Amino acid sequence: MCGIIGILGNHQAAPMMVEALRRLEYRGYDSAGIATVQDGVLDRRRAVGKLVNLADLLVTDPLPGFAGIGHTRWATHGGVTHDNAHPHRAGRVAVVHNGIIENFQELRAELDGPWESQTDTETVVRLCERFMAEGLAPRDAAFATIDRLRGAYALCFLFEGEGDLLVCGRQGPPLAIGHGDGEMFVGSDAIALSGMTDRVTYLEDGDRAVVTRDGAQIYDAEGRQVGREVRRVTVEARQMEKAGHKHFMAKEIHEQPQTLADVIAAYTDGDRIVPPAAYDWAATDRVQMVACGTAQIACSVAKYWFESLARLPVDVDIASEYRYREGPVGADNTALFVSQSGETADTLAALRYAKGKARAILAVVNVAESTIARDSDVVFPIHAGVEVGVASTKAFVNQLAVLLSLAIHAGVQRGLIDATREAELVAGFRALPGLISSALAIEDRCEALASRLAEASDILFLGRGPMYPMAHEGALKLKEISYIHAEAYASGELKHGPIALVDKTLPVVVFAPMDAIFDKTISNMQEVMARDGQVLLVTDAQGAAQASDGVWEVLTMPRVDPIFAPIVYAVPAQLLAYHTAVQKGTDVDQPRNLAKSVTVE
Ligand code: F6R
Repeated sequence: MCGIIGILGNHQAAPMMVEALRRLEYRGYDSAGIATVQDGVLDRRRAVGKLVNLADLLVTDPLPGFAGIGHTRWATHGGVTHDNAHPHRAGRVAVVHNGIIENFQELRAELDGPWESQTDTETVVRLCERFMAEGLAPRDAAFATIDRLRGAYALCFLFEGEGDLLVCGRQGPPLAIGHGDGEMFVGSDAIALSGMTDRVTYLEDGDRAVVTRDGAQIYDAEGRQVGREVRRVTVEARQMEKAGHKHFMAKEIHEQPQTLADVIAAYTDGDRIVPPAAYDWAATDRVQMVACGTAQIACSVAKYWFESLARLPVDVDIASEYRYREGPVGADNTALFVSQSGETADTLAALRYAKGKARAILAVVNVAESTIARDSDVVFPIHAGVEVGVASTKAFVNQLAVLLSLAIHAGVQRGLIDATREAELVAGFRALPGLISSALAIEDRCEALASRLAEASDILFLGRGPMYPMAHEGALKLKEISYIHAEAYASGELKHGPIALVDKTLPVVVFAPMDAIFDKTISNMQEVMARDGQVLLVTDAQGAAQASDGVWEVLTMPRVDPIFAPIVYAVPAQLLAYHTAVQKGTDVDQPRNLAKSVTVE
């Protein structure tokens, strides 16, 4: 993870870098630092903790200079300390790095100590300084250094005596070059560069670049100079504001009626589902879905949809497992990768494993310019807008909407859904933003229940059918932002072991919309109540009328066609987690140990 910025500007670089790092803080927030060159002199400032600490430091100890590099860190090698914060420096060289240098021990053994940090990155800067001591010019030293690295990296080098030079390179994590007027920039993504330019070149894997105020010379992994497209990208500044909400997560939860309406508009036309990219679902025999975290949960819900609506078998894998498992991929299989950021290292590696084996590589992504999108054959954008909160909310809901529309479309193409049924489903789709708005009305109840949930040390989430992965989503959201241990079980599986955990101290959240298996879910809920478990039943008014006797609490949801229920039941999963975290006083948007974009394996 980590976020990188580089500036060759015509103004003081430090304030611009702090602003860019603020936009990149979603990539990690363990420490932050910048280095500049002023009158040829290289200097740096670093601070442990959130970016605000660096900003405060720069008030008392400013760092002048029009050229600079900056970094916000998600710790991989070495603890969260000042010495481990980037930029790392050795003599005339400073570097910022996102990724992992896998052969850093081997490189360390070649270089002389003492070492300032425990990081893999320090070996990069020390190696570069050694090449310069041997007589190489800065650019050649940086290229020679990159040639020695194994692993994943996005790197940006700055040199003493060189106020008009940045050298950068990428293998794995993304890196973009921004083109200004007489100014040039380097950044982890277009969001980093958005305050400075909308003209962006994405480096390809293996690329390295020499950047001066006149432009960038880009070379591929074989050292050939290459041309890479300059694209215009738009990242709306207003999407980076909280718009009156206490947290980005709250804002993003409340944006869902609109973001859902946006994606539905993009995937429907009249009475029909019309995805923005064509794919022949009749020509495939199996779908392999791969993702991480919440995106993997979206795939697990989609499995139910594709299997029931399109009669297509679906396997769902966690990317970090899939990439090394060497599972068979048939020539008629479709490989589908879901990722909000489009940069998740494990998902990208899994994609590369399937490439050339599967019939086609499909991507469901939020960031249209991301590596996963660019490496795929067919891209389905989710139109969620920038998601800043580390815990995914609106992106998850829009992933579900896209996957459901693809499942319906596959059902149509495979002759299982006729025009009348398709029109009914499209009408159901169009009702969803309104249902999400109604579901948001449970917020006050969630806030009230949160004070009780916040006292628990463990919470169980139960569901059947597609509500089983939704139980996982409830548990994941809760644990990642409230730090309360939570687990999800398929309701029917509880009696095979985990029911031993149930006693009167255990809150058990049961997702039970009115569907064909409602009675089965309620039977399992009764088994919990018979053992004094404290049940929070999430259902609609009819479900509440039938099954609320003896439960601790009920959250009453709007009535929804079971096919669409997972999308609507995302709301209680999010609101329970959000208000419990607020109650506990955790850092909701930037929970400990996490980062938004996971570009290391
Ligand atoms: C949890 C969450 C993560 C991400 C996961 C994959 O709320 O956001 O579990 O879903 O890190 O990230 P993407 O979708 O960017 O590949």
